[in-house]
Amino acid sequence: MKQQLEALRAKAVETLSSVNTAAELEEFRVKVLGKKGELTAILRQMGSLSAEERPVMGALANEVRAYIEGELARVSAEVEKKAVAARIAAEKIDVTEPGITPKLGKAHPLTLVRKELENIFTSMGFMVAEGPEVELSHYNFDALNTPDDHPARDMQDTFYIAKDVLLRTQTSSVQARYMEAHKPPLRMICPGAVYRSDAVDATHSPFFHQIEGLVVDKNISFGDLKGTLEEFARLFFGPETRVRFRPHHFPFTEPSAEMDVSCFVCGGKGCRLCKGEGFIEILGAGVVHPNVLRACGIDPDVYSGFAFGMGQERLAMLRYKIDDMRLLFENDVRFLEQF
Ligand code: DAH
Repeated sequence: MKQQLEALRAKAVETLSSVNTAAELEEFRVKVLGKKGELTAILRQMGSLSAEERPVMGALANEVRAYIEGELARVSAEVEKKAVAARIAAEKIDVTEPGITPKLGKAHPLTLVRKELENIFTSMGFMVAEGPEVELSHYNFDALNTPDDHPARDMQDTFYIAKDVLLRTQTSSVQARYMEAHKPPLRMICPGAVYRSDAVDATHSPFFHQIEGLVVDKNISFGDLKGTLEEFARLFFGPETRVRFRPHHFPFTEPSAEMDVSCFVCGGKGCRLCKGEGFIEILGAGVVHPNVLRACGIDPDVYSGFAFGMGQERLAMLRYKIDDMRLLFENDVRFLEQF
């Protein structure tokens, strides 16, 4: 029995030296130390020993068990360490490896222009207002002194949704909504999309953007209009810019004008951009018609105002030297990446 115990110890040590995994260790433990294991099998023979031999063998058996258990624990710790090391090696991240650079988007030129316009006008004390794109003809036309028989209301250039509901043809509709909702003094701009039944070409689109401006207070005159828009033109097109006002007609302003800016390419001498004119038309404006103030609940004997409206696409095309409006709507990344 002594030999058997010693042989078991020697074999155990040998087996353990070649064990690599936790599963193999557990298999070993059951086979050698388990209830039905090899050690138990040897100990079964205790009964056949003499009374003197029994404690000696018992002590030896305990020593062998303790020894094997000790070895088992040692090897188990080693196996676990190796497993952790293997996992670390397998999951290692090379922090020096170049990363995948995410593709950064860019602001659309129309967004850039709108933000610049908002910055210029808010710095002059204007609020930024909004209004619906699906609009009542009341706000788009009637309240703006544009009666039923006015050609601007024609089916041919206006998208009607119902008899009195349409896609707004101008951001001027927001003037009327704003005057109804706020008491003067008023200073607001409204950038937004507008719709007209226009065929697409290099300078026309059925969908485009305008920015509207409105000032109403006591003693507002055409002089305030000129001063404000001249300053805007210098801030947007450069400090050398000169402006020119030409008489024009709009139903909602009286007097009305169109404003041109001196060509920022040739400085006014005449070139391809300004078609030899030296000036480029950029907006419509005027002194708010008393009928408009009245329709919006403001007393024209107490208050007066001026208003203006311009196309954002046109400003973007001038600013970025874009010669075809369609480029602004095609969303070709190769084009948009340039701004
Ligand atoms: N709404 C006009 C248009 O779409 C532009 C305009 C002209 C707006 C004169 C104004 C204005 O506020 O006073 O052509």
